[in-house]
Amino acid sequence: MSDSGGQWQVARRRKGTARRAQPPGAANPARQEEMDPRRTLRRVRETQSELKSEDFWQEWKELLLLSASTASSKPPADDLVSETLTNRLENNKDDGTVPEQECVCYGLGSFSSCVSSRYQLAMLLLLLDTLQIPPRHCCVFDPVFSAGEKDVLRGLGLTVLEENEEGKRLTTKPTLFYLMHCGKALYNNLLWRNWNIETLPLLTVIGNSFTGIQNRMIEREFQRDYSYITQAVAVCEERSLPCPSRLQDVFNDTAIITFPTSSLSKLPPLTWAEPPEPQYEHCPVLEIILKDKQS
Ligand SMILES: C[S@@+](CC[C@H](N)C(=O)[O-])C[C@H]1O[C@@H](n2cnc3c(N)ncnc32)[C@H](O)[C@@H]1O
Repeated sequence: MSDSGGQWQVARRRKGTARRAQPPGAANPARQEEMDPRRTLRRVRETQSELKSEDFWQEWKELLLLSASTASSKPPADDLVSETLTNRLENNKDDGTVPEQECVCYGLGSFSSCVSSRYQLAMLLLLLDTLQIPPRHCCVFDPVFSAGEKDVLRGLGLTVLEENEEGKRLTTKPTLFYLMHCGKALYNNLLWRNWNIETLPLLTVIGNSFTGIQNRMIEREFQRDYSYITQAVAVCEERSLPCPSRLQDVFNDTAIITFPTSSLSKLPPLTWAEPPEPQYEHCPVLEIILKDKQS
């Protein structure tokens, strides 16, 4: 799926990929009503096992670690990546400590009725497991979650947020933000709230490629409406995350994005002074649900 000119568009379905009858992540009210939490939970776990055995998942793991190393300006040699990951996980087990890392997931969509959202939830669980982030340290929010879906998420040990933060969450410790196919305003708000040379390096974003967003927009409108993504695109490190063709609808245009201090310091100091809160008054279509518009 991709966006274009402020409108969400579903990428053309390839042969063999799942058919979408609904807008991405949208709830199917009929199916939601008959949702069986235990069955949904089982399907999420089955999808997690399926993803775990995929080759592309191994590549995600390696790129995740590479990005973590770059963010801390200590890139390991390619052939050391797997070894480093193994060591890191084993060390954590040895001293029994849990790394001080958190996760925030916005815009997962209605995973009980939307296959893409279910795959994305299953991937989130794999990421948490690999990074050894306890599920309760992962906050999830989407205004479309039904009561039953919130129960399933709590059943998985995740923390369900009740407040619509509009993506404006201030980070105080290393945090993975998982925003799969989310509205541009959500990324832009997140960057604005953390627009500080000390804070941005704490963020790792897994979501739509910022370069992809830029390429699909008219430059003038991109700069006017999404000024924080515009500035970030020049200084962030972006690594494309692969996916098999049958899962294109689920994971296409996805990248892991980090903000190394060494790059951020190339921006003029004025960039950081009193960043104005985004207003989006010229945006023809705001792709996110605002807190005062939520039913
Ligand atoms: C384009 S859909 C993507 C859904 C799913 N991730 C997918 O790829 O099919 C964008 C999602 O963002 C959610 N969303 C909108 N406003 C939001 C907000 N303020 N905070 C969190 N999620 C939001 C929508 O409800 C929707 O589920």
